[in-house]
Amino acid sequence: MAVVDLTLAQPTLRYQVRIEAGLLARLGPAVAEAAPHAKCAAILDEAIEADWGRPAARSLRDAGFDCAVASLAVSEKRKTLGTVRTFYEVLLEHRLERRSPVVSIGGGILGDMAGFAAATYLRGVPLVQAPTTLLAMVDASVGGKTGVNAPQGKNLLGSFHQPVLVAIDPDALTTLPARQVRCGLAECVKHAVIRDPELFSWIERRVDDVLALDSGALAELVERNVRIKAAVVQEDEREAGVRAHLNFGHTFAHAIEACNRFLGRPSLLHGEAVAAGMVAATRLAIDQRLCQDAGLLERLVRLLERIGLPTCLPAEPPMAALMTAMGHDKKVAGGAIRLVLPARMGEVVVTDQVDPVAIEQAWVDLAAPPGA
Ligand code: GLY
Repeated sequence: MAVVDLTLAQPTLRYQVRIEAGLLARLGPAVAEAAPHAKCAAILDEAIEADWGRPAARSLRDAGFDCAVASLAVSEKRKTLGTVRTFYEVLLEHRLERRSPVVSIGGGILGDMAGFAAATYLRGVPLVQAPTTLLAMVDASVGGKTGVNAPQGKNLLGSFHQPVLVAIDPDALTTLPARQVRCGLAECVKHAVIRDPELFSWIERRVDDVLALDSGALAELVERNVRIKAAVVQEDEREAGVRAHLNFGHTFAHAIEACNRFLGRPSLLHGEAVAAGMVAATRLAIDQRLCQDAGLLERLVRLLERIGLPTCLPAEPPMAALMTAMGHDKKVAGGAIRLVLPARMGEVVVTDQVDPVAIEQAWVDLAAPPGA
């Protein structure tokens, strides 16, 4: 068991990330301690409802909560205000009050939406994140970003709303589809490149154990990454500085996700788009002479390939649509696209000085398999 204490600048904002095998079945007492109240709502991802959601909801009831349960099939397409509205109906129907916690049990898309509902219902109620995917454990559940997509792009509507508790049960990873494990690993590789060369080497050494769902490897991977994410968020809760580094690969990735319909089937999932986006950003950094580590691109591509993540686009880049999507990115400042580019392993720079022609070339380069 590991506990990561997260303390933000405002002294009232302090919470724990608990990493504990079997925690979902004991969620009730943990939530009761973090957010005691007579009522709560559990919002479940249908995909994990039987294995993890129902036992967790039972534990909430056993701990004394009058618990409303909502469950839904989650997808990036359904990450909309319309879906959040259905959550509001549940909270209103169940007459949740200002101190009643909303508990999200599922992956990052669900956590972002449940978090947004918790941030806005009655102007904000306590939120508990109980992530069940690797991506949500190592990234989305920690740090308080909540929101939904707009037709123009990813996560354009949302708010910062820190949870009162993040309850991570690594056992939930034992039923996670392999594709989702790979997606979570993309964010771990991102953490390594932006901040932790030793983590990159660790993933190189242990990738096969992680893909084989070795419990020791998974627990260590989750803890190392949660510590990185928590440290970044503590330094910069509102993304005024160092938190922007977590967007390495994401400006390209969000454009890929916005243009998935042009790129054939199956659509790339977030982690897959991040993998391709990190390759594009790294190649661009080398082209722009911002990256001083000639071997970084090769090492990154090799590791992503071993994980089974895409390192190029599955189809010709729909250039106009991709550039338009990049222009809608949250990080656009004064009309310029802001990119996070690696300088060397463990260090990135943020720049809005890259010529759009060079960015278009990065898309062209991403269409071809590396080395082709
Ligand atoms: N997932 C990026 C962040 O939380 O800032």
